[in-house]
Amino acid sequence: MEKSNGLRVILFPLPIQGCINPMIQLAKILHSRGFSITVIHTRFNAPRASSHPLFTFLQIPDGLSEAETRTPDITLLILLLNQRCESPFRYCLTKLLQSADSETGEEKQRISCLIDDSGWIFTQPLAKSLNLPRLALNPTKPSFFRGHFVLPQLRHGRYRQLQDSEKEDLAPEFPPLRKKDISRFLDVETEILDPYLGKIYETVKASSGLIFMSCEELDQDSLTQTRQEFQVPIYAIGPSHNQFPASSSSLLTPDETCIPWLNKQEDKSVIYVSFGSLVTISESELLEISWGLRNSNQPFLWVIRVVDSVNGAKLIPEEIMRRLNEKGKIVEWAPQQEVLKHRAIGGFLTHSGWNSTVESVCEGVPMICLPYFWDQMLNARFVCEIWMVGLHLEGRVERNEIERAIRRLLLETEGEAIRERMELLKEKVGRSVKENGSAYRSLGHLVDHISSF
Ligand code: UDX
Repeated sequence: MEKSNGLRVILFPLPIQGCINPMIQLAKILHSRGFSITVIHTRFNAPRASSHPLFTFLQIPDGLSEAETRTPDITLLILLLNQRCESPFRYCLTKLLQSADSETGEEKQRISCLIDDSGWIFTQPLAKSLNLPRLALNPTKPSFFRGHFVLPQLRHGRYRQLQDSEKEDLAPEFPPLRKKDISRFLDVETEILDPYLGKIYETVKASSGLIFMSCEELDQDSLTQTRQEFQVPIYAIGPSHNQFPASSSSLLTPDETCIPWLNKQEDKSVIYVSFGSLVTISESELLEISWGLRNSNQPFLWVIRVVDSVNGAKLIPEEIMRRLNEKGKIVEWAPQQEVLKHRAIGGFLTHSGWNSTVESVCEGVPMICLPYFWDQMLNARFVCEIWMVGLHLEGRVERNEIERAIRRLLLETEGEAIRERMELLKEKVGRSVKENGSAYRSLGHLVDHISSF
């Protein structure tokens, strides 16, 4: 860490693994630039303070019941959190500002700003009322962030009744999504979502800046357009997983036995399978994936999470499990970044969450994309159609399709070409976080901006 600059930044992540990881990464980056860090967090999905002894952690009550924390409806969960956390957060932040004001002598630090997830919609007016600048961190791809505000306008239009002949066409309002992707979005309950999106738009526009864990090399056009549209400073400061790994912010304990198992496998032979922290795989999908993996005859490492106390792996019939164990390893949670870094990994069958996507790019691992919802569909289109560093399953969770995709990626010349393109993308992105790269410069501007408050 650089010498302390006498400034403290308050961070407030949304309590979802895919949002905690980039926020803690940002904390590490700012700490390395001399800022002191306080993380305010909910009781639900509290980050492990012991993994970050240099930061101060303050817990606020979130008022969620046990049943509410288990809702599969993520929008509903986030809205409940927004309703219940406003008052405890206000209390906590006000106290922090008061005690910073009353500090004297060498210990005195100034609180320069609040940085919270763009999904918190009460923080902008609250910070304004306390005279504290607020920046938002968005955990998705900039092109998704900018594009997804168009969804409410598409609800009642032609996307509801697509002809078969137009399903594969590009959606002009939200490229590079296809029309069929948009109609999948519109299946989602809209009553609560649309006004929520409106609030995010409004509060980010009123903020002192917006931060993305992306870079010009991955998002140039959408960053330019977002700057024009939002008229706030926009920073694309990552991905910098190699310097600041996200693994220490894992809510679950990773199964470290993956690594000695990988050590025994040949170079680039293993397919890593993981669908992030939110997607729930149905029993029939589990079976299709099991057979697809087994029939590909390639070694695999598969993360099957325990969801609501149900261990998904236990749903796989014994006979299939026996055959799976001949070739692969199943764990409940993996040290994902370490796994992707391992020489034995040849491909990643992923749900295309933004964190997983950039982690894979940073390690140069080509992907097989099976997106389920939200930004995952856009990320998968970028991976497969714009950067051409992966294969798209197009939602077909069928054993033959999975087996075929694994073979194409790991064994055929098509896979070699994909791997070469991925290597080039990895280098480009790697250069952006090094001195004088685009992300490196953007981080410098962010540090100057925060220091100027
Ligand atoms: C959510 C959304 O689903 C995603 O679309 C959005 O882009 C971010 O928020 P999630 O589904 O959890 O995130 O996916 P992802 O963004 O890929 O984040 C998962 C994180 O958990 C990654 O940083 C990954 O390294 C980590 N992880 C995952 C592990 O450490 N171990 C695992 O076994 C699986």
